[in-house]
Amino acid sequence: MSLHVDFQPLPRWIDKGPAGSSTMPAHYYTSELIYQLERNHLFTQTWHLVGKSDDVAQPGDYFTTDLFGEPLLVVCGRDGVARAMINVCRHRASMVALGAGNKKAFSCPFHGWVYDLDGQLKRCAGMDGAADFNPSGIGLPPLRTETWGRWVFVALGDDTPPFEEWISTTAARAANYNLEGLVFRGGRHWNVDANWKAYNDANHEAYHVPFLHPSLFNTYPKNQFGVTNASKNWDGSAVTADNGSYTKMTTSFGGEICLPEVEHENVGSRPVALLGSVPEVREIAEPMPQLQPADHVRHYFTFMWPGLVQFHFMPDGVVVLQMRPESVNRTVVTMEFWLPPAASLEQELIQASLIVYGVQILDEDVAMISLTDRGMRSRHYNSGRFAPTPENLLYEYNVWYGKQMEPAFESAGIV
Ligand code: FES
Ligand SMILES: [Fe+2]
Repeated sequence: MSLHVDFQPLPRWIDKGPAGSSTMPAHYYTSELIYQLERNHLFTQTWHLVGKSDDVAQPGDYFTTDLFGEPLLVVCGRDGVARAMINVCRHRASMVALGAGNKKAFSCPFHGWVYDLDGQLKRCAGMDGAADFNPSGIGLPPLRTETWGRWVFVALGDDTPPFEEWISTTAARAANYNLEGLVFRGGRHWNVDANWKAYNDANHEAYHVPFLHPSLFNTYPKNQFGVTNASKNWDGSAVTADNGSYTKMTTSFGGEICLPEVEHENVGSRPVALLGSVPEVREIAEPMPQLQPADHVRHYFTFMWPGLVQFHFMPDGVVVLQMRPESVNRTVVTMEFWLPPAASLEQELIQASLIVYGVQILDEDVAMISLTDRGMRSRHYNSGRFAPTPENLLYEYNVWYGKQMEPAFESAGIV
């Protein structure tokens, strides 16, 4: 018996606009072939947040991680520069380092080859007599690495666009938020049994908010959900929607949604969901001092194509949301809270409420997205229809995905 998937080419369903198009067929979310194409053609074309720069601040500091099955070692060199490299011994493929910590050099646990902090092979006892073997030319393969804000970013491909271009929207927004002055107040991981796109799709529509997140819905003015009305332009220009919300794309690889400033007391910060209204919260905690008045009531999202990392800039702090695909139907979602040092017990309680509330929203999303993965695998489901207005941003996101993946699909015969 052969397992055959009749792939439906994307142009067939994305050329009729959100009002006329069906959602992306289920096999784009469930097929191992599609995932492998993404792994080789999409994830290698973008930057990835791999960890915190504080963890590799001193020479010898290191941590290990995994990106799409590629074991990574991130280490601070003697020159104080953080570098990422492939964590696979050049002898017989053991991992050279495990966990995190501080070392003067890395000794492979299998046969003892020793690598310097820059990945260069320093010693390999027992290799005397090996023909055409030059240890000085051997090292752990380096990856392009950038440190920005409080994080380390890595590119898996040589032709990944410049980091400055990719981060530009977030960097511009972050300027007011004094990232260096924030404190890491914890994070949480979720193992989501679903494709990364299924999770990310939900980040591109607020259609589900009144139903899945009723408490969140009640903290925002109803017209705030006009964010889903924002015209979308992934090519570079800013588009203002008629309700005042907008989506601004400064590069082909990044974007920002700014929720509108409206006359409503509950805009801007999640703690209001637990503590009442913004005025009540503000009686005991000011917004972060360096912010502009307009930012006191705004909540900005920035996300960089393909949306595996998202920054939330809020009056009370910064939240980082990250998706790391591990397989076609396994995605690790991480939420990190970066908040100003609490000046009082009241402020600490507000911060605790922000964390608890963020976790609650994610719990709700994760449970739902895992359900849709089961649904996507039903023989009786292929695709649905976009809600023309509430899901037009999602539609645009999916169109962009199709365009970016087109060469890969063509090479695989899915045209
Ligand atoms: S696998 Fe590393 S020394 Fe042999
Ligand atoms: Fe959600």
